Amino acid sequence: MIGFFVKTGRKYLFLTLWYLRAVKGKISMEVTGRSAGKEVDEKCFDNIFDDINKKIGFSKKDTVLDIGCSNGELYKRIHPHVAKGILIDTSAKQLKLARCNVTDKNVLFLQSGASEFDLPECSVDKVICYSVIHYFVSYADFEKTMNAVYRVLKPGGKVIIGDIPFYGMQLKGSAGLNVKFMGLIYVRYFEKQVLRSVQKIGFRATIHSQAEDLPYSKTRKDLILEK
Ligand SMILES: C[S@@+](CC[C@H](N)C(=O)[O-])C[C@H]1O[C@@H](n2cnc3c(N)ncnc32)[C@H](O)[C@@H]1O
Repeated sequence: MIGFFVKTGRKYLFLTLWYLRAVKGKISMEVTGRSAGKEVDEKCFDNIFDDINKKIGFSKKDTVLDIGCSNGELYKRIHPHVAKGILIDTSAKQLKLARCNVTDKNVLFLQSGASEFDLPECSVDKVICYSVIHYFVSYADFEKTMNAVYRVLKPGGKVIIGDIPFYGMQLKGSAGLNVKFMGLIYVRYFEKQVLRSVQKIGFRATIHSQAEDLPYSKTRKDLILEK
């Protein structure tokens, strides 16, 4: 009997911790992760910019699409190195913050989902989508986004889908499986499955670890794509 209570109690404790983690994830999506409700950690964003720049190399001629721009803190560091920016986010609140944060010329702000932007074919040189795809509600959304990115990217253009919390082991038949719990949905990404999806679309794709000074470098990786 005691054994039963210990076992059941542990299960509820586990479920409660899982739920709190899920709720926290939902909140951080709205208030933008690293700078949520606190002062922006300038050094952290500088380090992320350096890591991204090493991986996809911004140039003064580039038009950059930033998907899930949030408050624009990351794009603010990219703009001095490129020609033009298109910043999109689903959240009106985050776009309002981004407009105040990024006041440079040649920056366009659009409220849009990651795969729903209406931009001309082959019109952007670089795409960044950093710390966003784990908020998608299904793996199909990820694939739709990758198709939309491929369409707008110029031949030779580069993409970083950054800060992906990959799952370690893909069990047979678990491709595209989501974790659903109390109305919240978490997409699980597996390296092999992600590489297969983007290669099928036509990208050259590699997965890279992050510089050690980044906050999630031990648990997250970046997907680098080229058309
Ligand atoms: C953690 S923030 C990342 C912000 C920024 N990219 C960075 O690295 O600082 C995630 C952002 O993605 C946005 N987002 C989540 N799902 C999205 C979707 N399906 N389409 C567009 N934006 C989305 C959220 O509104 C939020 O602003």
